[in-house]
Amino acid sequence: MKKIVLFASGNGSNVENIIQFFKNNKSVSIVGIFCNNPHAKVLERAENHKIEATIFNKTELNDTLVLEKLNQLQPDLIVLAGFLLKFPSHIIASFPKKIINIHPALLPKYGGKGMYGMNVHQAVIDNHEKETGITIHYVNENYDEGEFISQQATNIENCKSAEEIASKVHELEHEFFPKIIEKIIT
Ligand code: GAR
Repeated sequence: MKKIVLFASGNGSNVENIIQFFKNNKSVSIVGIFCNNPHAKVLERAENHKIEATIFNKTELNDTLVLEKLNQLQPDLIVLAGFLLKFPSHIIASFPKKIINIHPALLPKYGGKGMYGMNVHQAVIDNHEKETGITIHYVNENYDEGEFISQQATNIENCKSAEEIASKVHELEHEFFPKIIEKIIT
C-alpha cells in the first residue's frame, strides 16, 4: 500500500478530486490532510471522507510538529495541492524526491514569492497572455523552482477575467494532477 498525504490551504477542490480518483484504488491510500488554515473548506472535505486532518500554524510548520506528524505517517508521497505557504527546508531534506507541488501557471513564468492562486491569474490577464496552464514539479528550497514533472497549457484568448482563467486552470488541474500522482507513486 502506497501512502499519500495532501497539503492544502483553502477550498481544496484539488484535494477532493484526488480523493475521488483514488477512492477505489486498493494500492493507494490518502492517509492525511495537512492544513494551515483552521477555517478552510478543505477541512470539511477531510471530515466527510474520514481522513485525519492536521491543522498547524506557520511556526508549527517551521519547527517540529509537522515533521513529527509526517514521520509518524511515513508517506510515500507528499502532495502540495493548493498549499500557499513556503515549504520548510528541513521537511524537504527529510523527504527527498517525495514532495510535489502544483502551480497554476506555466513556470518559470508567474512563479516565486506572492505568486499563488488568484494573484497568478490576475498577473496573467494583466499581461494579455494568450495561454496559461499548470506545472507539476518536485519541491526544492526555492519557490516554484524544483524539477518539472509535467506541464499542460490552455488557450485563454477568450477569457475576460482572472476568474475565468482560474476556472480553465482548475479544469486542467483536475484532469491531470491525479493521473500524474498515480504515475509517480506506482
Ligand atoms: C490551485 O489552482 C493551485 O494550483 C494553486 O492554488 C489553487 C488551489 O485551488 N496553488 C498555488 O497557487 C501554489 N503556489 P483548490 O483549493 O480549489 O484546490
